[in-house]
Amino acid sequence: MGQLLVLDKQDRYLTVSAMKGIILAGGIGTRLFPLTISMSKQMMPVYDKPMIYYPLGVLLLAGIREILIISTPRDLPHFRMLLGDGSAYGISLSFLVQQEPRGLAEAFLIGRDFIRNDSVAMILGDNIFYGAGLAALCRKAVRNEVGATVFAYRVEDPSRYGVVEFDAMSGKPTQIEEKPKKTSRGWAVTGLYFYDNEVVEIASRITPSARGELEITDVNRAYLERGQLNVCRLGRGFAWLDTGTPESLHDASSFVRTIEARQGSKIMCPEEIAFDLGYLSADDVLSRANWLGDNDYSAYLRRCVEERLYA
Ligand code: G1P
Repeated sequence: MGQLLVLDKQDRYLTVSAMKGIILAGGIGTRLFPLTISMSKQMMPVYDKPMIYYPLGVLLLAGIREILIISTPRDLPHFRMLLGDGSAYGISLSFLVQQEPRGLAEAFLIGRDFIRNDSVAMILGDNIFYGAGLAALCRKAVRNEVGATVFAYRVEDPSRYGVVEFDAMSGKPTQIEEKPKKTSRGWAVTGLYFYDNEVVEIASRITPSARGELEITDVNRAYLERGQLNVCRLGRGFAWLDTGTPESLHDASSFVRTIEARQGSKIMCPEEIAFDLGYLSADDVLSRANWLGDNDYSAYLRRCVEERLYA
Protein backbone atom coordinates (compact mmCIF):
# COMPACT_ATOMS: atom_id res chain seq x y z
CA MET A 1 0.00 0.00 0.00
CA GLY A 2 1.00 3.62 -0.41
CA GLN A 3 1.54 2.97 -4.10
CA LEU A 4 -1.12 2.57 -6.73
CA LEU A 5 -0.99 1.09 -10.21
CA VAL A 6 -2.78 3.15 -12.84
CA LEU A 7 -2.93 2.93 -16.63
CA ASP A 8 -1.60 5.87 -18.63
CA LYS A 9 -3.00 6.92 -22.03
CA GLN A 10 -0.88 4.28 -23.78
CA ASP A 11 -2.21 1.62 -21.40
CA ARG A 12 1.11 1.30 -19.62
CA TYR A 13 1.09 0.75 -15.90
CA LEU A 14 2.34 3.68 -13.88
CA THR A 15 3.03 3.65 -10.18
CA VAL A 16 1.77 6.71 -8.41
CA SER A 17 1.51 7.64 -4.79
CA ALA A 18 -1.87 6.79 -3.29
CA MET A 19 -3.87 9.36 -1.43
CA LYS A 20 -4.24 8.95 2.31
CA GLY A 21 -7.50 9.49 4.16
CA ILE A 22 -8.41 10.91 7.57
CA ILE A 23 -11.71 10.53 9.40
CA LEU A 24 -12.01 13.10 12.14
CA ALA A 25 -14.37 11.77 14.80
CA GLY A 26 -13.70 14.11 17.71
CA GLY A 27 -15.80 16.65 19.54
CA ILE A 28 -18.09 16.42 22.54
CA GLY A 29 -21.44 16.38 20.75
CA THR A 30 -23.19 18.53 23.36
CA ARG A 31 -26.18 19.17 21.09
CA LEU A 32 -26.99 15.45 21.40
CA PHE A 33 -26.72 15.22 25.21
CA PRO A 34 -27.68 13.01 27.04
CA LEU A 35 -27.09 10.60 24.10
CA THR A 36 -23.42 11.53 23.88
CA ILE A 37 -22.50 12.03 27.54
CA SER A 38 -20.59 8.76 27.61
CA MET A 39 -20.29 7.83 23.93
CA SER A 40 -18.99 9.47 20.76
CA LYS A 41 -21.51 11.11 18.46
CA GLN A 42 -19.89 9.32 15.53
CA MET A 43 -20.74 6.00 17.18
CA MET A 44 -24.49 6.76 17.27
CA PRO A 45 -26.65 4.55 15.07
CA VAL A 46 -27.81 5.93 11.76
CA TYR A 47 -30.53 3.35 11.28
CA ASP A 48 -28.59 0.07 10.97
CA LYS A 49 -24.95 1.17 11.18
CA PRO A 50 -22.71 3.25 13.43
CA MET A 51 -22.43 6.78 12.02
CA ILE A 52 -18.72 6.42 11.18
CA TYR A 53 -19.50 3.70 8.57
CA TYR A 54 -20.94 6.40 6.29
CA PRO A 55 -17.78 8.56 5.98
CA LEU A 56 -15.69 5.39 5.90
CA GLY A 57 -17.77 4.24 2.92
CA VAL A 58 -17.12 7.54 1.13
CA LEU A 59 -13.32 7.16 1.47
CA LEU A 60 -13.57 3.56 0.26
CA LEU A 61 -15.60 4.69 -2.76
CA ALA A 62 -12.90 7.29 -3.44
CA GLY A 63 -10.41 4.43 -3.74
CA ILE A 64 -8.51 5.39 -0.57
CA ARG A 65 -7.10 2.42 1.37
CA GLU A 66 -4.86 3.94 4.03
CA ILE A 67 -7.00 5.68 6.59
CA LEU A 68 -6.28 7.39 9.90
CA ILE A 69 -9.04 7.74 12.49
CA ILE A 70 -8.63 10.68 14.86
CA SER A 71 -10.77 10.89 17.98
CA THR A 72 -10.79 11.85 21.63
CA PRO A 73 -8.77 9.95 24.28
CA ARG A 74 -12.10 8.59 25.61
CA ASP A 75 -13.55 7.46 22.29
CA LEU A 76 -10.56 6.25 20.27
CA PRO A 77 -10.47 2.78 21.94
CA HIS A 78 -14.11 2.24 20.92
CA PHE A 79 -13.38 3.07 17.28
CA ARG A 80 -10.43 0.69 17.39
CA MET A 81 -12.71 -2.02 18.79
CA LEU A 82 -15.37 -1.34 16.15
CA LEU A 83 -13.14 -1.11 13.09
CA GLY A 84 -10.00 -3.08 13.99
CA ASP A 85 -6.97 -2.80 11.73
CA GLY A 86 -9.15 -2.39 8.63
CA SER A 87 -8.57 -5.93 7.30
CA ALA A 88 -12.33 -6.60 7.56
CA TYR A 89 -12.67 -4.03 4.76
CA GLY A 90 -9.44 -4.77 2.89
CA ILE A 91 -7.85 -1.51 4.02
CA SER A 92 -5.30 -0.33 6.57
CA LEU A 93 -6.51 1.69 9.53
CA SER A 94 -4.49 3.60 12.08
CA PHE A 95 -5.64 5.61 15.08
CA LEU A 96 -4.45 8.81 16.77
CA VAL A 97 -5.79 10.97 19.57
CA GLN A 98 -6.82 14.61 19.42
CA GLN A 99 -6.28 15.66 23.04
CA GLU A 100 -8.56 18.72 22.96
CA PRO A 101 -11.08 19.96 20.37
CA ARG A 102 -8.63 22.41 18.84
CA GLY A 103 -10.21 22.48 15.38
CA LEU A 104 -10.51 20.43 12.23
CA ALA A 105 -7.27 21.68 10.70
CA GLU A 106 -5.30 20.23 13.62
CA ALA A 107 -5.93 16.82 12.05
CA PHE A 108 -3.14 17.54 9.53
CA LEU A 109 -0.68 18.29 12.32
CA ILE A 110 -1.70 15.24 14.35
CA GLY A 111 -1.51 13.14 11.18
CA ARG A 112 1.74 14.65 9.81
CA ASP A 113 3.75 11.40 10.13
CA PHE A 114 0.87 9.41 8.66
CA ILE A 115 0.51 11.73 5.65
CA ARG A 116 4.27 11.94 4.98
CA ASN A 117 4.71 13.14 1.38
CA ASP A 118 1.30 12.09 0.11
CA SER A 119 -1.84 13.98 -0.67
CA VAL A 120 -4.69 13.54 1.78
CA ALA A 121 -8.47 13.55 1.95
CA MET A 122 -10.34 14.35 5.13
CA ILE A 123 -13.95 13.59 5.95
CA LEU A 124 -15.79 14.51 9.13
CA GLY A 125 -17.10 11.50 11.01
CA ASP A 126 -20.62 12.95 11.25
CA ASN A 127 -21.12 13.83 7.56
CA ILE A 128 -23.49 11.62 5.61
CA PHE A 129 -23.45 11.74 1.83
CA TYR A 130 -25.68 9.90 -0.60
CA GLY A 131 -26.13 10.14 -4.34
CA ALA A 132 -25.33 8.53 -7.66
CA GLY A 133 -22.02 9.77 -9.02
CA LEU A 134 -20.47 10.45 -5.59
CA ALA A 135 -17.72 7.88 -6.17
CA ALA A 136 -16.84 9.38 -9.56
CA LEU A 137 -16.65 12.91 -8.13
CA CYS A 138 -14.38 11.71 -5.31
CA ARG A 139 -12.14 9.80 -7.69
CA LYS A 140 -11.79 12.91 -9.84
CA ALA A 141 -10.77 14.87 -6.74
CA VAL A 142 -8.20 12.16 -5.89
CA ARG A 143 -6.69 12.49 -9.37
CA ASN A 144 -6.31 16.25 -9.04
CA GLU A 145 -2.62 16.56 -8.14
CA VAL A 146 -2.38 20.25 -7.27
CA GLY A 147 -4.42 22.28 -4.83
CA ALA A 148 -7.64 21.46 -3.00
CA THR A 149 -11.09 20.18 -3.88
CA VAL A 150 -14.05 20.81 -1.61
CA PHE A 151 -17.76 20.16 -2.12
CA ALA A 152 -20.51 22.73 -1.70
CA TYR A 153 -24.17 22.01 -1.08
CA ARG A 154 -27.01 24.48 -1.24
CA VAL A 155 -28.82 24.74 2.09
CA GLU A 156 -31.65 26.78 3.49
CA ASP A 157 -29.65 28.07 6.48
CA PRO A 158 -25.90 28.11 5.78
CA SER A 159 -24.98 30.08 8.92
CA ARG A 160 -23.89 26.92 10.80
CA TYR A 161 -21.28 26.04 8.18
CA GLY A 162 -18.34 27.28 6.16
CA VAL A 163 -19.94 29.20 3.31
CA VAL A 164 -18.52 29.80 -0.16
CA GLU A 165 -19.52 32.47 -2.66
CA PHE A 166 -19.04 32.39 -6.39
CA ASP A 167 -18.42 34.90 -9.14
CA ALA A 168 -21.68 35.15 -11.09
CA MET A 169 -19.90 35.21 -14.46
CA SER A 170 -17.04 32.71 -14.12
CA GLY A 171 -18.61 30.48 -11.46
CA LYS A 172 -15.25 30.52 -9.63
CA PRO A 173 -15.17 30.79 -5.82
CA THR A 174 -14.51 34.34 -4.61
CA GLN A 175 -14.90 34.15 -0.87
CA ILE A 176 -15.11 31.58 1.90
CA GLU A 177 -16.21 32.32 5.45
CA GLU A 178 -16.82 30.23 8.57
CA LYS A 179 -20.31 30.51 10.09
CA PRO A 180 -21.27 33.89 8.59
CA LYS A 181 -24.13 35.82 10.21
CA LYS A 182 -26.19 35.84 7.01
CA THR A 183 -29.20 33.57 7.04
CA SER A 184 -30.37 33.45 3.42
CA ARG A 185 -30.00 30.34 1.29
CA GLY A 186 -26.43 29.66 0.22
CA TRP A 187 -23.62 27.20 -0.51
CA ALA A 188 -22.33 25.39 2.57
CA VAL A 189 -18.93 23.72 2.40
CA THR A 190 -19.42 20.07 3.31
CA GLY A 191 -17.10 18.07 5.55
CA LEU A 192 -15.26 16.30 2.72
CA TYR A 193 -11.94 17.77 1.61
CA PHE A 194 -9.17 16.67 -0.76
CA TYR A 195 -5.74 18.32 -0.50
CA ASP A 196 -2.27 18.10 -1.96
CA ASN A 197 0.64 17.67 0.46
CA GLU A 198 0.90 21.45 0.99
CA VAL A 199 -1.98 21.18 3.46
CA VAL A 200 0.38 20.14 6.26
CA GLU A 201 2.45 23.30 5.81
CA ILE A 202 -0.66 25.48 5.48
CA ALA A 203 -2.25 23.99 8.62
CA SER A 204 0.94 24.61 10.59
CA ARG A 205 0.82 28.32 9.69
CA ILE A 206 -2.80 29.21 10.53
CA THR A 207 -3.68 30.59 13.96
CA PRO A 208 -6.71 29.80 16.17
CA SER A 209 -9.94 31.65 15.42
CA ALA A 210 -12.08 33.59 17.90
CA ARG A 211 -13.63 30.27 19.01
CA GLY A 212 -10.10 28.98 19.70
CA GLU A 213 -9.96 26.48 16.82
CA LEU A 214 -7.72 25.90 13.83
CA GLU A 215 -10.42 26.37 11.20
CA ILE A 216 -10.59 24.26 8.08
CA THR A 217 -12.08 27.34 6.41
CA ASP A 218 -8.76 29.17 6.95
CA VAL A 219 -6.96 26.30 5.20
CA ASN A 220 -9.44 26.48 2.33
CA ARG A 221 -9.04 30.26 2.14
CA ALA A 222 -5.26 29.83 1.80
CA TYR A 223 -5.89 27.61 -1.23
CA LEU A 224 -8.43 30.12 -2.59
CA GLU A 225 -5.86 32.90 -2.34
CA ARG A 226 -3.39 30.78 -4.30
CA GLY A 227 -6.03 30.25 -6.99
CA GLN A 228 -5.99 26.53 -6.12
CA LEU A 229 -9.39 25.94 -4.53
CA ASN A 230 -11.60 23.81 -6.69
CA VAL A 231 -15.21 23.89 -5.45
CA CYS A 232 -17.45 21.15 -6.76
CA ARG A 233 -21.14 21.96 -6.36
CA LEU A 234 -23.26 18.98 -5.39
CA GLY A 235 -26.61 19.29 -7.11
CA ARG A 236 -30.11 18.51 -5.91
CA GLY A 237 -29.72 14.81 -6.68
CA PHE A 238 -27.32 14.43 -3.76
CA ALA A 239 -28.19 14.19 -0.10
CA TRP A 240 -25.87 15.72 2.48
CA LEU A 241 -27.48 15.08 5.81
CA ASP A 242 -27.04 16.68 9.18
CA THR A 243 -26.76 14.55 12.32
CA GLY A 244 -26.14 17.21 14.94
CA THR A 245 -29.47 17.19 16.79
CA PRO A 246 -31.90 14.43 17.87
CA GLU A 247 -34.30 15.52 15.09
CA SER A 248 -31.71 15.53 12.30
CA LEU A 249 -30.22 12.24 13.54
CA HIS A 250 -33.67 10.69 13.45
CA ASP A 251 -34.29 12.16 9.97
CA ALA A 252 -31.00 10.71 8.70
CA SER A 253 -31.98 7.28 10.08
CA SER A 254 -35.41 7.51 8.44
CA PHE A 255 -33.83 8.51 5.13
CA VAL A 256 -31.48 5.51 5.18
CA ARG A 257 -34.27 3.16 6.25
CA THR A 258 -36.61 4.39 3.50
CA ILE A 259 -34.08 3.92 0.70
CA GLU A 260 -32.74 0.60 2.04
CA ALA A 261 -36.21 -0.90 2.54
CA ARG A 262 -37.34 0.14 -0.93
CA GLN A 263 -34.22 -0.99 -2.81
CA GLY A 264 -33.18 -3.94 -0.66
CA SER A 265 -29.60 -2.72 -0.65
CA LYS A 266 -27.64 -0.99 2.07
CA ILE A 267 -26.22 2.52 1.98
CA MET A 268 -22.49 2.63 2.81
CA CYS A 269 -21.95 -0.97 3.85
CA PRO A 270 -18.11 -1.00 3.92
CA GLU A 271 -17.77 -4.78 3.41
CA GLU A 272 -19.97 -4.62 0.29
CA ILE A 273 -18.03 -1.68 -1.14
CA ALA A 274 -14.71 -3.45 -0.45
CA PHE A 275 -16.03 -6.59 -2.14
CA ASP A 276 -17.14 -4.64 -5.22
CA LEU A 277 -13.75 -2.94 -5.42
CA GLY A 278 -11.97 -6.29 -5.25
CA TYR A 279 -10.36 -5.61 -1.85
CA LEU A 280 -12.19 -8.56 -0.32
CA SER A 281 -12.87 -11.99 -1.81
CA ALA A 282 -16.21 -13.80 -1.53
CA ASP A 283 -14.63 -15.99 1.17
CA ASP A 284 -13.51 -12.90 3.09
CA VAL A 285 -17.03 -11.50 3.07
CA LEU A 286 -18.56 -14.83 4.09
CA SER A 287 -16.17 -15.28 6.98
CA ARG A 288 -16.90 -11.73 8.09
CA ALA A 289 -20.62 -12.57 7.99
CA ASN A 290 -19.97 -15.66 10.12
CA TRP A 291 -17.95 -13.63 12.58
CA LEU A 292 -20.80 -11.11 12.87
CA GLY A 293 -23.19 -13.91 13.84
CA ASP A 294 -26.84 -14.26 13.13
CA ASN A 295 -28.42 -10.91 12.24
CA ASP A 296 -29.79 -8.87 9.33
CA TYR A 297 -26.42 -7.33 8.56
CA SER A 298 -24.65 -10.67 8.14
CA ALA A 299 -27.59 -12.03 6.13
CA TYR A 300 -27.16 -9.01 3.85
CA LEU A 301 -23.45 -9.72 3.40
CA ARG A 302 -24.22 -13.36 2.47
CA ARG A 303 -26.81 -12.15 -0.01
CA CYS A 304 -24.33 -9.69 -1.59
CA VAL A 305 -21.95 -12.57 -2.28
CA GLU A 306 -24.69 -14.85 -3.62
CA GLU A 307 -26.09 -12.18 -5.92
CA ARG A 308 -22.74 -11.35 -7.44
CA LEU A 309 -21.50 -14.91 -7.79
CA TYR A 310 -24.70 -16.42 -9.16
CA ALA A 311 -26.25 -13.43 -10.96
C1 G1P B 1 -17.34 22.21 10.35
C2 G1P B 1 -16.56 23.23 9.53
C3 G1P B 1 -17.49 23.91 8.54
C4 G1P B 1 -18.19 22.87 7.69
C5 G1P B 1 -18.90 21.83 8.57
C6 G1P B 1 -19.44 20.70 7.72
O1 G1P B 1 -18.23 22.88 11.20
O2 G1P B 1 -15.95 24.16 10.41
O3 G1P B 1 -16.74 24.78 7.71
O4 G1P B 1 -19.12 23.52 6.83
O5 G1P B 1 -18.01 21.28 9.52
O6 G1P B 1 -20.08 19.72 8.50
P1 G1P B 1 -18.40 22.42 12.75
O7 G1P B 1 -18.92 21.03 12.71
O8 G1P B 1 -17.04 22.51 13.35
O9 G1P B 1 -19.36 23.41 13.32
